[in-house]
Amino acid sequence: MAEVPTIAQDAVMVSTTGKLPVDPVEVKGYDFSDPEGVDYHKLLNMYKTSGFQATNFGNAVEEINKMIEKKLEPLPPKEEVNEESINLNPVGREKSNCTIFLGFTSNLISSGTRETIKYLVKNNMVDCIVTTAGGVEEDFIKCLAPTFLGDFALPGKQLRMSGINRIGNLLVPNDNYCKFEDWIMPILDKMLEEQKQQGTIWTPSSMIARLGKEIDNPDSVYYWAYKNNIPVFSPALTDGSIGDMIYFHSYKNPGLILDIVEDIRRMNSQAVYAENTGMIILGGGVVKHHICNANLMRNGANYAVFVNVANEFDGSDSGARPDEAVSWGKIKMDAKPVKIYGEASMVFPLLVAETFARTFKQEK
Ligand SMILES: NC(=O)c1ccc[n+]([C@@H]2O[C@H](COP(=O)([O-])OP(=O)(O)OC[C@H]3O[C@@H](n4cnc5c(N)ncnc54)[C@H](O)[C@@H]3O)[C@@H](O)[C@H]2O)c1
Repeated sequence: MAEVPTIAQDAVMVSTTGKLPVDPVEVKGYDFSDPEGVDYHKLLNMYKTSGFQATNFGNAVEEINKMIEKKLEPLPPKEEVNEESINLNPVGREKSNCTIFLGFTSNLISSGTRETIKYLVKNNMVDCIVTTAGGVEEDFIKCLAPTFLGDFALPGKQLRMSGINRIGNLLVPNDNYCKFEDWIMPILDKMLEEQKQQGTIWTPSSMIARLGKEIDNPDSVYYWAYKNNIPVFSPALTDGSIGDMIYFHSYKNPGLILDIVEDIRRMNSQAVYAENTGMIILGGGVVKHHICNANLMRNGANYAVFVNVANEFDGSDSGARPDEAVSWGKIKMDAKPVKIYGEASMVFPLLVAETFARTFKQEK
């Protein structure tokens, strides 16, 4: 009988002589045969040793728990805190030992992730929000009329002829936007009047706070942001239905001004005068960069978790891994940032379940 060729034998049977380049951790997943039944906390805990994005999920849980732990630590003794820094933060929100920034793209407010975000805002667990225009208006619109489940494959022409708009596999009747117009126009009138008579300088963030006050509905994320004095920044606030309304309003009752210079001062101040900062950013684009850029002003965030589906091969900021932000000084060099490659509507509620929701339970 012919022998196995030595070249093949040697190639396949190379012996391990070196050590692993990392501390050895055995890959192991969840055992569903546990006689106690399914334990979701244990299941999610086992993600850490499962590999791939499951391990990144486990790392993100640890990173967010570090943010929370830091936040719950008392502030350094008064003499060590820069008193001026508190006063210089124009939002005047009570300071904690870790300022947590939460960013999310518009579609996440269109989706049920809105309720997870509302939980965090209602319970005052995050300190500064950044979103895009749709992420603001869809929250208010949902207070006026519902968004429905649909299908990614529903044809655009048919939907257009029926006056129904599609966001992925969600459907929003166009009437909802008409209701939004009826609601927001008188508020824009009042804002303009205050601008003219009291000299109020409106910014995107003060407008969002005002809308949160006016909606007066506990289902709204921005109602709670207003109540809890959590600033919401949206530098591209005009790129959505709110922009359409501001555009129409500029014909019906011209003169309303939104000052983005004042808002960049406010936004950057949230990072500059913070003791420590953590960033949780869902999706990319404006929301990701705006938070990271504010953190550049303090030479980097202490903690960071990115959740998105974007890749870096195209050089996009959306796809940039945290290490690119380290190169810009947007994340500190000694931080242990985590990126989960994943769709946020699936990932984020689970992340919150393993972090904020558990701490909150223990705290109560
Ligand atoms: N409901 C809506 O989505 C809506 C409504 C009105 C206006 N708009 C406007 O459209 C513009 C673009 O929206 P945008 O800037 O919010 O972001 P976007 O929808 O363009 O997303 C930016 C990037 O974030 C990542 N991403 C998006 N959704 C994700 C998810 N579910 N999970 C993981 N990663 C995800 C992707 O990499 C994507 O390329 C904005 O100006 C916004 O105001 C959106």
